[in-house]
Amino acid sequence: MITMALAKGRIYQEALPFLAAAGIFPAEDPEKSRKLMIATNRPDLRIVVIRATDVPTYVQYGAADLGVCGWDTLYEHGGNGLFIPVDLQIAKCRMSVAAPNGFDYERLVRSGGRIRIATKFMKWARDYFARQGVHVDLIKLYGSMELAPIAGLADAIVDIVATGATLRANNMREVRVIAPISSRLIVNQISMGLKKAELSPIIENIRKAKKND
Ligand code: PRP
Repeated sequence: MITMALAKGRIYQEALPFLAAAGIFPAEDPEKSRKLMIATNRPDLRIVVIRATDVPTYVQYGAADLGVCGWDTLYEHGGNGLFIPVDLQIAKCRMSVAAPNGFDYERLVRSGGRIRIATKFMKWARDYFARQGVHVDLIKLYGSMELAPIAGLADAIVDIVATGATLRANNMREVRVIAPISSRLIVNQISMGLKKAELSPIIENIRKAKKND
């Protein structure tokens, strides 16, 4: 049995054509069903529907053999035990530093001052500000990062920006782009050895679909 880990929402929708290219068709729509494990047209392949942040954990421990995961989540998790064969170039967005319109980020950076950052992406933020040589206090949040500067919890945030609409709606702007984000196919390294005959064609068909899109 092959188990594939997917998160509901944008990544799932944009991954469907790649699954189709590999001859994989889910038997149910996870957006409509409350089932957490979904059968497919292939009796030897099932899909587990989990939170995006749990996808690399399932694949790392081999509870899922493969999955699709955003680079934001993957970098934060770390790549231990994972083989990352294809950048699907789907669910594109960017990891950015954003601050309220009135906040002079440039001046703070120039002056070598300390900045207070709220984020759920602690590793992204820690690594980025270390690279920049900016002193930072990090405050871990689990959602609605844009509220933190408005409420006086932090000076700025590190978060995903897609259209920029959420920032605009909250009088904030992107002050730095840290990295472009897209979703990757990830495979458990041990499964890659043990189930090579089943996994290789799936990976190759997904890779080909990527080239042809
Ligand atoms: C992300 C992010 C922003 C929003 C940005 O949240 O945290 O709030 O998308 O998108 P935009 O630039 O198009 O407005 P998401 O909807 O993924 O949910 P989350 O807060 O659970 O991460």
